[in-house]
Amino acid sequence: MPPDTHQSLQALLRFYADCGVDIALSEEPINRFAEPRTSAADVSQQLVLEPTTSPPVAPLPLTEAPRRPPPPATPSLTVPSDDAVMAAREAAATAETLAALRDTLSRFEGCNLRHTATNLVFADGNPEARVMFVGEAPGFEEDLQGLPFVGRSGQLLDRMLAAIGLDRTTAYIANVIPWRPPGNRDPTPQETEICRPFIERQITLVDPDVLVALGKASAHLLLNTTIGITRLRGQWKSYATGRRDIRAIATFHPAYLLRQPLQKKLAWRDFLAVQEALSSAPAPASRE
Ligand code: URA
Repeated sequence: MPPDTHQSLQALLRFYADCGVDIALSEEPINRFAEPRTSAADVSQQLVLEPTTSPPVAPLPLTEAPRRPPPPATPSLTVPSDDAVMAAREAAATAETLAALRDTLSRFEGCNLRHTATNLVFADGNPEARVMFVGEAPGFEEDLQGLPFVGRSGQLLDRMLAAIGLDRTTAYIANVIPWRPPGNRDPTPQETEICRPFIERQITLVDPDVLVALGKASAHLLLNTTIGITRLRGQWKSYATGRRDIRAIATFHPAYLLRQPLQKKLAWRDFLAVQEALSSAPAPASRE
């Protein structure tokens, strides 16, 4: 390849990466505007979960993480939000255990993010833990490994956990969104609403004594508020699981702390508050 062509191709790829385009879905471009419109009825048919006997999807180690084959070119990947949210609610409500919920999510077709993700990122840590941390959505490393918080912000989270005597054997970690949004873009409100029933069910099934929302997006969803994270963090709230009310608190996202290290002192206060709550919180009323 002539050097100038090579250089312009590299420049083009860099441009795509800067725009967040870091995944090729197909060898050929597809003109979605030229496709026939898919009716809502057609698409809601696609959302129906087929029963399957396949075992739950296990997280894959980094070296073995294969990319999922690209989705079929048709029908359109656009899903009507109401149908998808309804399908998510029904699917999540039927899961009686975390294993069943993970299996249900791995088969759920109602969220487009699954098509660009390499792996489902369900959770890490101890489901019997008394404290559950909930982040926003997996990033590049998490997508490859199928585990939450294993990249740079995860390493910071591990250090913060260690500072209050916790680790992944004594804490449970999940995300609001279980698939990586392409190019680490923010999840859309529609994607968040589709994923909401699954994280809510996951919290109910884990039934922790203390729930910690990491970052604004998680805090807004779980604490049902739009107050800015700087004001919201560090305040104890109540989260109703449907079985009981549990203590909930928001703090800064570790990725934000990597960019704004001076804010670590506030996050440290929040983590000390979590440690204090864990030393005094009563044993859970009911566990499955
Ligand atoms: N950020 C998140 O919110 N979750 C992860 O799992 C990783 C980074």
